[in-house]
Parts: sequence; structure tokens; C-alpha cells
Amino acid sequence: MTAVDGKRIVLGVSGGVAAYKAAVLARELQRAGARVQVVMTEAATHFVGTATFQALTGEPVFTDQWDARIANGMAHIELSRAADAILIAPASADFMAKLAQGLCDDLLSTLCLARECPLVLAPAMNRQMWENPATQRNVARLRADGIELIGPDSGEQACGETGMGRMLEPEDIVESLDAFFSRKVLAGRRVLLTAGPTFEPIDPVRGITNRSSGKMGFAIARACRNAGAMVTLVSGPVAQRTPLGVRRIDVQTAQQMHDTVTRELDQAQHAKQPVDLFIAVAAVADWRPARYSEQKIKKTDAGSAPELGFTQNPDILASVAKREAAPYCVGFAAESEALERNGRDKLARKAIPLLVANIGHETFGRDDNELLILDGTRSVRLPRASKDALARDLVADIAPRLPARPL
Ligand code: CTP
Repeated sequence: MTAVDGKRIVLGVSGGVAAYKAAVLARELQRAGARVQVVMTEAATHFVGTATFQALTGEPVFTDQWDARIANGMAHIELSRAADAILIAPASADFMAKLAQGLCDDLLSTLCLARECPLVLAPAMNRQMWENPATQRNVARLRADGIELIGPDSGEQACGETGMGRMLEPEDIVESLDAFFSRKVLAGRRVLLTAGPTFEPIDPVRGITNRSSGKMGFAIARACRNAGAMVTLVSGPVAQRTPLGVRRIDVQTAQQMHDTVTRELDQAQHAKQPVDLFIAVAAVADWRPARYSEQKIKKTDAGSAPELGFTQNPDILASVAKREAAPYCVGFAAESEALERNGRDKLARKAIPLLVANIGHETFGRDDNELLILDGTRSVRLPRASKDALARDLVADIAPRLPARPL
């Protein structure tokens, strides 16, 4: 469950090639739990037919201000009053120009002018059209009017050119909308996280790792970003998409993760923009092979197995917690037994104020989880839910614990 869940979204589709992506967007929004009502401009229907959206959303699609299906003839009022937000995707240069002027000569533009809910635009156009001073003037006007713009992105365009003006991908639009609806409980805060497994090489082709997928850490990074924080994520090798707006640094080994975290904290302190919150979600290897073999270790005819000695890795979380002016530190615990007792023991051992324990240790790679939050005195259980929903609840629990920033 995300902040988009249960929201009623009017998805406005204006005329542009990217209208075909709006069909996928309608699907993604519904998957995130939104109720989607599609309204199209006449130009948009030249790119995608109304039947596509009607079939996808199970709702009639409106294009005409004089649609007889709305009994009182007030389609623009009826549709906008029922919405939690109007999202225009794609928002063409022409449609944005109309909005900037307050024109209302069709259903979608009238709906926008008559709205009481937030209006979000996902622009899509050729790069020259985007860079044109007239469009940039309109963009500034729209922003000043409190209209939210998400994107555009830069990249390959339908016209064959490359540049700024591509509509964000549907999943990025849903993510931006999720952030838009989220409570900004970490506004202005800086958050540093570790996520995923580490990989400790034995030789050029082998190594030791663990089954962490990085899903929980990435979900927490997303939730922190949604809550208004500036987020840096130090990640081990994972196959996860970087959340929009999150700064990601990839590492392999525990030592690299430790060095990166230390460098980030030092730099932030030096720049007088200290990190407020450190969340260690990574499943860090406690040991690494004592010696790395530059060449692949070969089998011997004698059948003897190589001896792998181990060296202990630095404890990243404990080293952060020990720092002078340490950020508020949150640890994660994977325990296979005596969850609360071992969790409390870890809390004391690492000298951290908060520990989050996975209930059940078979959570690797799954989309859901169940957590126990432990502080010095209390424990709070977050019942089984998606990792995204848990991440949001966890952030809501952590935010009020952060010490106020000195003025
Ligand atoms: N952690 C860390 N650096 C390490 C080991 C663990 O930062 N070298 C962090 C993890 O990211 C997690 C917390 O410490 O937030 C607890 O990790 P866990 O593996 O449960 O505990 P360990 O300290 O390794 O203790 P043990 O394996 O003995 O339970």
C-alpha cells in the first residue's frame, strides 16, 4: 500500500505520441490502488482510442464537455469534485500553454480551471518545443500558480531526436505521485542508508554473499524521499531500480560500504550539512576471505579443498554510532531465534537508539515482511504488509524521534 492507494485520480490525456504510455500509466495507477477516471482531449484520441482506456479502467472515458452521460450537464464540475488530484500525462506544449493562460475551450481544460484538487503535469514534447522560451515562460507561470510538474526526462524522443522533453516512464510518474501524496515528516532532513548484501571476493570468479535482495532498504529509501528527505543510498549488488530523486552509490564489499559511509558522513559534516538519520538495512558480511587470489583457484588432482581463512569486517553501524555528533542510528536485525532478547542485546552492543527486527528470517526477496521496532524501553509490532507500506510506517515512527536541528 502506498500513498496513492485509495486515491481518485482524473487522468487527463492530451495530444502527443506519449499518449500510448498513458495506457500503461492507467494500469500502473490502478495497480497502486488508485481509482482512475480518464478524460481525453480531442487531439489525444488521434493517438489512442477511448476504448483502450475504457477497457483498462472499467470506467467510461470522457472527451466532450457536452457529454449527455452527466445528468446536469456539468461534466467539468462533477468530474473534478470527485477527484483527489488531476494528473495530465502527457501534458503537451499546447495544453500547458492553455493552462498557463487559463483557457477552457474543451472538457479537460475546463476541468482543470474548475478544480479544487491539486493538478500535476507530466510534460511530453519535442526538445525544441520544451526549450522554446514560450514554453519555459509557461512552465514558470504554471509553477507560480502552484501546479506541480513532474519531469520531463531527457533521452531518445519519438521524433528521432535526443534531448529534454520525454515524458517520465509510467512507473516513475506513479512514484512521483506517491511522493506528492505523502506526509512530509522528514522535510529538510538528510538520510543515509545502506541496503542489499555485500559481496566478498575469493578470486576473480568466486565470492561469498547472502540472500538479501535489497527490497526493504530500497523501500525505506523511497519512503524517506517521499517524506521529503534528501536521501543517499549505499547499496551492495542488487537488481533494484533506483528510486527517483535518490542518490545511489554502488559498492561490493563490506569494507567499501564502510569506507563510503564514512566518507559521506565526513563530507556532510565538513559542508556543515550533517546527516540526521543513518539507517543500516544492509546485510553486511561479518567476515571476508583472509586472502584474495588474483588468479582463479584451480582444482587439484589430489582432491584437496582450498583452506579459506577469514578476517572480520568492520561493523559499519557500530562505527557510525560511535562517531562524535553521530546521526540518529537505526539498525536492522536478522535473527533466527529469541528475537526480542537478541534484538535488545544488539541495541545495547551497538549503542544505538532503535533497532528493527525482521520477524521470521525467510523474508529474502519477498515483497512483504513483518517487523518489530525496539527502542530502549518499548517494542512496536508492525504486522505483515508490503515492504513499501512497512517502510512508510517505519519512517512515520522514526521521524518524531529525531532530535530537533540546532538553529
Ligand atoms: N551491520 C553493519 N556492519 C556489519 C554488520 C552488521 O553495519 N559489519 C549492521 C546491519 O546493517 C544491521 C545491524 O548491523 O543494521 C545488525 O546486523 P546483523 O547481521 O543482524 O548483526 P551482526 O552485528 O552481524 O551480529 P550477528 O550476526 O552476530 O547477529
